[in-house]
Amino acid sequence: MDIDSSAPAIALHSVIKKFKEVTAVNDLSFTIGQGEFVALLGPNGAGKTTLVEMIEGLQFPTSGEIFVFGKNWKGHQHFLHRQLGISLQETRFIDKLTVYETLNLFASFYNLPVERINQVMSMVGLDEKRKTYTVNLSGGQRQRLALGVGLLNNPRLLLLDEPTTGLDPTSRREIWNILMDLKKNERTTLILTTHYMEEASFLCERIIIMDHGKVIAKGTLDELLAHHNKGEIIEFIAGCTVNTDQLAAIPGVRSIHRASGDKLRLIVDNIITVLPLVMQEMDKQMCGFMSLECRKFTLDDLFVSLTGRTLND
Ligand SMILES: Nc1ncnc2c1ncn2[C@@H]1O[C@H](COP(=O)(O)OP(=O)(O)OP(=O)(O)O)[C@@H](O)[C@H]1O
Ligand SMILES: [Mg+2]
Repeated sequence: MDIDSSAPAIALHSVIKKFKEVTAVNDLSFTIGQGEFVALLGPNGAGKTTLVEMIEGLQFPTSGEIFVFGKNWKGHQHFLHRQLGISLQETRFIDKLTVYETLNLFASFYNLPVERINQVMSMVGLDEKRKTYTVNLSGGQRQRLALGVGLLNNPRLLLLDEPTTGLDPTSRREIWNILMDLKKNERTTLILTTHYMEEASFLCERIIIMDHGKVIAKGTLDELLAHHNKGEIIEFIAGCTVNTDQLAAIPGVRSIHRASGDKLRLIVDNIITVLPLVMQEMDKQMCGFMSLECRKFTLDDLFVSLTGRTLND
């Protein structure tokens, strides 16, 4: 049986997942098209893993329905298992198996030939580590091995739960490059969970922001930022106590917030026109800057403005 090309890769209909006192996923409905790269972005406890594991058939909704390539998990397990590649939030390998043996073990579940193991090993850049015990891999190498395991069966739907959390920028880039190569074949749908907004915006055309089990915003990066038209940001630490009422009265200043520590964050219409007025006001108050930063509104800022919390809280 092949995939129905007209079916969305994923369709959620009013999906709810409750654990005793917690509603981890709270009435979600959306579709993801075949070939799309979608990021699920949200802070700890948002419900990302629970949602992804329900799509993977590892957990079942309390109510609502999930269709993967138009099929429900009940009755189509065998078919769906062949279409999916998954990498869980925490992957435990068998310490005393080498990289090659680990891939070989998973390949045997799908009756895959040896050539595929070698192919995947070089895709994820672990050729040189083929004889290394998994216990001796670095964090980045382990994540690449986990990705390799997910890619073995050349899946039509790849689900990666925080593939780069805790990795240094170089290792993160390596994972991104593998995924960008995968994107070129236009055959694979990717759902990736992450806390990193640059990761979401770099890899994925569509971003779904979750908090407390709900979708709080979704769209492309540009759509999200345009739709929420949040202006631009001037952030500074002042060398003395500032009269914020005077700053708030400056034309073009939309709001003032206390960011982390002593930092003040001004949301303004336009940095170029408002900054000189802020400088004048600070001068009038005889107050210097310890630091000053001007920037566009980012997805992180959007998240803060939607939830009052940062992504990495
Ligand atoms: N098996 C479980 N039993 C009880 N509560 C659970 C269970 N699994 C998840 N939860 C709760 O559901 C909520 C969502 O958890 P989930 O792991 O889906 O979040 P997440 O977005 O993946 O977070 P993180 O970014 O930390 O991985 C949390 O409040 C969590 O405590
Ligand atoms: Mg999680």
